[in-house]
Amino acid sequence: MAVIALASASGSPGVTTTALGLALMWPRPVLLLEADPTGGSGLLAGYFRGTREYDAGLIELALTASNLSDAVADVARPIEGTAVSFVVGTRSHTQASALRDLWAPLAEVLSELEATGQDVIVDAGRLGLHGSPEPLLDAADLLLLVSRTTLPNLSALRSWAEAFQRPALDWHQSAVLLIGEGRPYNARDVSGAVNLPVLASLPDDPESAAVFSQGAQPPKKFDTGPLPRALNAAIASIHSTITRRRHELLEGARS
Ligand SMILES: Nc1ncnc2c1ncn2[C@@H]1O[C@H](COP(=O)(O)OP(=O)(O)OP(=O)(O)O)[C@@H](O)[C@H]1O
Ligand SMILES: [Mg+2]
Repeated sequence: MAVIALASASGSPGVTTTALGLALMWPRPVLLLEADPTGGSGLLAGYFRGTREYDAGLIELALTASNLSDAVADVARPIEGTAVSFVVGTRSHTQASALRDLWAPLAEVLSELEATGQDVIVDAGRLGLHGSPEPLLDAADLLLLVSRTTLPNLSALRSWAEAFQRPALDWHQSAVLLIGEGRPYNARDVSGAVNLPVLASLPDDPESAAVFSQGAQPPKKFDTGPLPRALNAAIASIHSTITRRRHELLEGARS
């Protein structure tokens, strides 16, 4: 499929949880990249509950003297029993500025991965932070702004939504992924307020979310529960949105 970036405008709506949930349900091999400049791996401390040590990640990529594409393959680690591999982010926010010159070449390497049958999901963390991976956001086929539906969340989302409608970026797409639709606003309210389409909605389901965010024991019938089902529906929407956009671009180039 492509490169899909997830980011938030405010709060901690569930970017890391959703990025991992999507990756674990993804129908093809996928690389999950922790590019949140806040530092401290949500994956190692959360999903893996500290049972996996940091050994290599983004910093090693930034320092590599070898071919970046080979270096990505070297630092990517598998999630056993799945088709997901992941690259961990920085250990600390103080390392974020060391990544400044990595993002643009990394964006190129990530887009080339598709040809090898691997898609990429980027956890870009909160927008606007020092060290934010903006070149990855600009290069992604689809940027998903993850948000809850409270007024403070929507107010912050609106200001970023405007920024992502810049004409220079009209070849790629931005959309909203809602968490907890209807608490209190629904998808139609949100897309009207922020002037971006809502691509998918995930239920507010703390027990199932904790499986991804804290490595909690899955609740009964987890696989067929509301959150995994909604993640699958989100994947279908992501796929059709990217396919449609590419088709439009191809048609545009021909005419
Ligand atoms: N769909 C959901 N339903 C209920 N709770 C959720 C959902 N998704 C995430 N959460 C919970 O929200 C909290 C924050 O999640 P997460 O760390 O993924 O957010 P984030 O946006 O990555 O935050 P940060 O900006 O701090 O990195 C966690 O406790 C997680 O379990
Ligand atoms: Mg996070």
